[in-house]
Amino acid sequence: MRIIKATDYNDLSRKAANVIASQVTMKPDCVLGLATGSTPLGTYKELIERCEKGDLDFSSVKSVNLDEYRGLTRDNDQSYYYFMHNNLFKHININSENTNVPDGTQPDSDMECARYEKVIESLGGIDLQLLGLGHNGHIGFNEPDQAFAPVTHCVDLTESTIEANKRFFASADDVPRQAYTMGIGTIMKASKILLVVSGADKAQILREVLFGPITPQVPASVLQLHKDVIVVADEAAMSKF
Ligand code: GLP
Repeated sequence: MRIIKATDYNDLSRKAANVIASQVTMKPDCVLGLATGSTPLGTYKELIERCEKGDLDFSSVKSVNLDEYRGLTRDNDQSYYYFMHNNLFKHININSENTNVPDGTQPDSDMECARYEKVIESLGGIDLQLLGLGHNGHIGFNEPDQAFAPVTHCVDLTESTIEANKRFFASADDVPRQAYTMGIGTIMKASKILLVVSGADKAQILREVLFGPITPQVPASVLQLHKDVIVVADEAAMSKF
């Protein structure tokens, strides 16, 4: 595991974008695993700028997103499809047919999760998976649990996640209670993983993730077992090391 210290959020965004840009430059037809949340926003902005300047070409890149709220349509402004489209895809030269997000409107969760897992397999697996970190240690929507989930599945969101994500909705009651997410096993199969963490409010959980026991109660702690993880965190997030 490589830990890169960034001075602040802007520095973190540049450093994380450097890792993704290297991946795309070295393998133009790579499969990028992408994430939502506020942390990767700066990274996406950097990638957009580099693409606009002509320094990065996404025309052969394929993408798979980590997760999606169950029940939200693509045009719902809180869906992760909408987020990805507005914060990244529409600004870069990626072919929208090469972008994949779980379909939150598919009511048969087993069918949708199996389909999504097959999509990832059919692309040949993920070259680089970008991850944010939830306050309870979740990655994607893999919440603290008794076991690590092997594949894409439907989850009940915890109260702490609903609380954290309600800022984007009119009220906590509007936050969907379920989501489709890649499993921990799906994430761990990625060749490389890039974890981005910002802010003092993540300092305690980041310390547990990197140096605490490996346990499904802190889902991201499993990353200690992955052979190629880069963590980019700012000073505030590293303040409890
Ligand atoms: C959501 C997403 C996660 C993300 C997390 C942290 O719950 N499903 O993939 O990592 O939020 O988000 P933020 O970066 O806004 O703290």
